[in-house]
Amino acid sequence: MARILTGIQSTGRPHLGNLLGAIIPALELSKDKDNQSLFFIADLHALTQIKDPKLRVDNTNATAAAWIACGMDTTEQLLYRQSRVPQVCELTWYLNCFTPYPMLANAHSFKDKSNKLSDINAGLFTYPVLMTADIILYDADIVPVGKDQKQHLEIARDIAGIFNSQFGETFVLPEVRIDENVMTIPGTDGQKMSKSYGNTLDIFMEEKPLKEAVMSIVTDSTPLQAPKDPDTCNVFALYRLLASSDQIADMRNKYLGGNYGYGHAKQALFELILSRFTTERKLFHQLMQSPQDINQQLELGEKKATEIAQVVLDRVRNKLGFR
Ligand code: ADP
Ligand code: TRP
Repeated sequence: MARILTGIQSTGRPHLGNLLGAIIPALELSKDKDNQSLFFIADLHALTQIKDPKLRVDNTNATAAAWIACGMDTTEQLLYRQSRVPQVCELTWYLNCFTPYPMLANAHSFKDKSNKLSDINAGLFTYPVLMTADIILYDADIVPVGKDQKQHLEIARDIAGIFNSQFGETFVLPEVRIDENVMTIPGTDGQKMSKSYGNTLDIFMEEKPLKEAVMSIVTDSTPLQAPKDPDTCNVFALYRLLASSDQIADMRNKYLGGNYGYGHAKQALFELILSRFTTERKLFHQLMQSPQDINQQLELGEKKATEIAQVVLDRVRNKLGFR
């Protein structure tokens, strides 16, 4: 049996990048009955950025609803809030004491923001250590994530390895799983889609704002009549991720043929999002109307996650002489 684990921060509403880069591939992997899946909402990680409790809780519920709406069965797979298994904080402290400073100073999550050190809190600096604890606290074998998380997974393996080499086999070394077909989903401005860049497409939005978001995708100024290059266009890049091969070929021909404007392509993308995610959108809205239902499903996962975590934490305490 392989244990599959992944997490999504509740720093914002879940977006198309999260769905295609993390949620859908992870749910695909979890269909294999030989696998056990643990999916969680990294609300402690979110605290490095979001200090408003109401906003964070709302994002947490929306992220949980996105997992469930995309087909997760919470009686089979574990869905939980990171903060509700506080064992992870204790393990983070232990791991902090084994993590070399330069390893954290080189982490992208810190380095990308290190031009303004006064804006960085210690939580952000030690972010990869909490992420390591998230993974190795559950003896996870496989961690499906987007390409941007590769370095964090290397750090997790390094920290687990440092501990194992001093205390003998304690932690499972997690393996990263990056779906090469998905890679990095572009945002409305062509950069990586990310909550931090404000360039996301939230496919669970009401139709009107969703359409506005799709219409805001940045394109060049090639006139309507002129042929267009599909391979340099953000709209086409997003369309091809969701469309069938026939639809992709058809759209490519329209671009190359001219007399097809970016407005038309955006309308086609908008309609494709609505049809591709009809069921998910409906379920998501039902769930968001009843947060107590989301909470119940989360508590079920939290109970089971705590049982697994406690066994591993006891193993660590034994090794460290804290028992
Ligand atoms: P964000 O960058 O919006 O804050 P998270 O860091 O919470 O997103 O990412 C949660 C998961 O979704 C991770 O596995 C991450 O790799 C994946 N993911 C996020 N954005 C993208 C993207 N644009 N393309 C592919 N995967 C992504
Ligand atoms: N850092 C991840 C991200 O931003 C979220 C995350 C936190 C995570 N803990 C994790 C992902 C453990 C996989 C495993 O995407």
